[in-house]
Amino acid sequence: MMQRLPLRSLRAPPSRALATSASPTRQSLKIGLIPGDGIGVEVIPAAKAAIVALGSDIPKPDFVDLDAGFECFTRTGVALPEETVRVLEEECDCAIFGAVSSPTRRVVGYSSPIVGLRKRLDLYANVRPVTSVAADPNEKPDVDLVVVRENTECLYVKQEELKHTENGKEARATRLITERASRRIGQMAFDIALGRPRKHLTVIHKSNVLSVTDGLFRETVREVPTLPEVNGKYNDVQVAEQIVDSAVYRLFREPQIYDVMVAPNLYGDILSDAAAALVGSLGLVPSVNAGDKFIMGEPVHGSAPDILGLDIANPLASIRSAALMLRFLGYVKGADRIDRAVDEVIREGTVLTPDLGGKGKTSEVVEAVLKKI
Ligand code: NAI
Ligand code: MG
Repeated sequence: MMQRLPLRSLRAPPSRALATSASPTRQSLKIGLIPGDGIGVEVIPAAKAAIVALGSDIPKPDFVDLDAGFECFTRTGVALPEETVRVLEEECDCAIFGAVSSPTRRVVGYSSPIVGLRKRLDLYANVRPVTSVAADPNEKPDVDLVVVRENTECLYVKQEELKHTENGKEARATRLITERASRRIGQMAFDIALGRPRKHLTVIHKSNVLSVTDGLFRETVREVPTLPEVNGKYNDVQVAEQIVDSAVYRLFREPQIYDVMVAPNLYGDILSDAAAALVGSLGLVPSVNAGDKFIMGEPVHGSAPDILGLDIANPLASIRSAALMLRFLGYVKGADRIDRAVDEVIREGTVLTPDLGGKGKTSEVVEAVLKKI
């Protein structure tokens, strides 16, 4: 339930080596499952199965299936039913979301339910660790970074207008950046950096062009260590900054330079999909939507209509999202067991879906992971 999460547990850093356990003493864990559309329906059962496989390492999971998505909209006229929001707010400890098939054209009455949920539950941070798997488990991975994406504003406030002028159509969008949202995403990013071995944070922006909006984001994040309540806590975190376009360039040429990257909503969205290419597939990259009171796992990928129904969707991003959600809740041992099992399946390379060059089915990959958990 929304009031029950101790703040500290949500700040447990996703770094595998350093995550601290908040060891909550719950009897059971009520988990909302929102598969959504497309391959969301194929991969969310994999996340559920991985959680169940943990047995007594976590409180007894109690799953509740919840509706949302474009299919839900075409069936009922509502993309995000109030009942879904109510159950999440009042009954669930956490949730896992699949994907939605938001159309690229405007559909009257439709609005993306995942963007809506992030706002309704005040899940202000989207934390996206992108990690490659080293051939030798004792070696460091080539890519080991976390994109911390602001999750509530920027262009995603979706205030758009279309005007007809004498020169033809003119479209405008409002981009909102506030000090409050920039500060709390900044604090989250500093906390995560502090919990990782390198303790390095890069602030991503474009304030050479957008000096007011991105300028506010950049300044506010950079000022976080000087806030009175911070009290020197972030002194060990090394801060750098990078303009977003050259950040993408450097990400592809030398991903090793990055540890934690913090960015406004749209840049963070793009950067994390780009970073996914470095580790082989979007089907590998997990995320959590995190607020101070609720946590929702979500694979970074979309509904992938091009592979729908073929039983070849990679379930590992969803399985890892379940682990990341548990890690943020303080169930580090369970999260570690899932992550290790996924890493082993990738390392062995015998049962993988086609996006990773394999011939395996979704169901076979899930079986392989469950055996190792
Ligand atoms: P996408 O992420 O669905 O797919 C991009 C490419 O990656 C496709 O070739 C797809 O087959 C592949 N891919 C994605 N996940 C995979 C997996 N688990 N295993 C194997 N291959 C995988 O992005 P796209 O095609 O741009 O969007 C499709 C739909 O998804 C759109 O309606 C879009 O609005 C929606 N979408 C929803 C998101 C969400 O729910 N958070 C995020 C991104 C897109
Ligand atoms: Mg995206």
